[in-house]
Amino acid sequence: MQISLKPIKDVSTVNTNCLILIVDRALSADIAKAVDSAMGGALSQIISRGDFSAKTAETLYLPAISGLKAQRLLVIGKGENSELKDGEFDKIINAAINTAGNAGCKDISIMLDNINVADRKAPWQYQRVAQLINTAGYRYTATVSKPKPALSIRRVTLQGANTDANRSAIHAGASIGKGINVARNLGDLPGNICTPNYLASEARALGRKFESISVSILDEKKMAALGMHSLLSVTAGSDQPARLIVMEYKGGKKSDNPHVIVGKGITFDTGGISLKPGAKMDEMKYDMCGAASVVGTMNAIADIGIKLNVVGIIAAAENMPSGSATKPGDVVTSMSGQTIEILNTDAEGRLVLCDALTFAGKFKPASVIDIATLTGACVVALGKHATGLFSNNDELAGELLECGQLAQDRAWHMPLWDDYQAQLDSNFADMANIGGPEAGSVTAACFLSRFTKDYRWAHLDIAGAAWNSGANKGATGRPVGLLCQYLASKAGN
Ligand code: BES
Ligand code: MN
Ligand code: ZN
Repeated sequence: MQISLKPIKDVSTVNTNCLILIVDRALSADIAKAVDSAMGGALSQIISRGDFSAKTAETLYLPAISGLKAQRLLVIGKGENSELKDGEFDKIINAAINTAGNAGCKDISIMLDNINVADRKAPWQYQRVAQLINTAGYRYTATVSKPKPALSIRRVTLQGANTDANRSAIHAGASIGKGINVARNLGDLPGNICTPNYLASEARALGRKFESISVSILDEKKMAALGMHSLLSVTAGSDQPARLIVMEYKGGKKSDNPHVIVGKGITFDTGGISLKPGAKMDEMKYDMCGAASVVGTMNAIADIGIKLNVVGIIAAAENMPSGSATKPGDVVTSMSGQTIEILNTDAEGRLVLCDALTFAGKFKPASVIDIATLTGACVVALGKHATGLFSNNDELAGELLECGQLAQDRAWHMPLWDDYQAQLDSNFADMANIGGPEAGSVTAACFLSRFTKDYRWAHLDIAGAAWNSGANKGATGRPVGLLCQYLASKAGN
């Protein structure tokens, strides 16, 4: 995908497969008036006859036009507010990409001069378009004989000044879009392909692709030596060996403490001996979407070259029932030394994460964020729109909320009050791994908080946000956008 910037003065001379113009009903922007008059007033006639009302993201596609050098014109409604909201801008750009893409256009030019988004400067718009055009091109191809045809659009010209700042916004947006697609692809891959070892090989590939990333993989023997018996209890019933994957990105000074992101990488979650019901169980291939977001984010930040040290850690295992599987009532000792009574083997995410989080402490982290499809309760609480955000540090939580808004990848702050901790009491260990039917996503976060006392930590429960079900079943790549925004802001980008 080639994306370029051009300060366009005379819109009638733009040579493109498809000129994209964003207008209100009154055609109040100069550029809209210019197009209308070049077309002999055709546009205002269409509007006054009631064939187009310029509602936000409404499209009017004119495949044959006269008066313009452009071969086609795609008019998109802006709505009547002078300033757009973030989400409205995305809807408009997605409508542009889909309509022009479905029409088979190869080369599009988007006029942005008159478009203002509340609280956002121009580079934000360029970054968004670059991200959205890349994510629009995602196709799952690995296991289908006849994949959907690729997106036709090959070149995008944006009306805007060709400055360093604007160009780097485009590069960042494209890198983030590609990182999101990496995460989607890993999520969509079936559990018989995307195993813990497969995730490890993807991480190694990342280490080969970027000089700035070094990768090390811990096998079960090494994990046992470190005392990771909580993580290992999850893989006990599986024939697939577990892996702890560590990716170190060095973009900052050698002495800078790294920011650490930790992904839940359950490549398939049957529930184990606490077996899940059959309906929709296939979707538990997505139980490694936290891990996928770590790989996608590492890919994006290395591609952008942000000036920060970042460590990506993945706790990869398969949760299966078998004769060697962990049983309800079993007690294990975590790497931290704390003991855990496993009352439900389906609450396995926290069991792999707690050891990975203790391991993360070894890096003397500036902050640690874990990302996990952790609880069905989070889907009940927030649905698919918001990631559940929990943190032991309100400043960090505030930063992540703001970054989620900027990246259009939003989170919602949930409580982590001590009041909930007692739900994890056990008569036979330091804690139980489940907290009963109430506030399931909160007690899961409370469990993790017992392993993260030494550093600034946030937990992102992406059980709702990570994938879509139904006709559009597929991974979303969330929260790669949020994580990239956060890390870029820490790097001062
Ligand atoms: N991976 C699931 C959480 C999940 C379920 C995510 C459905 C998205 C959709 C997790 O391992 C799990 O099974 N959690 C249990 C916890 C319970 C046993 C305390 C759950 O949410 O039911
Ligand atoms: Mn589970
Ligand atoms: Zn799970």
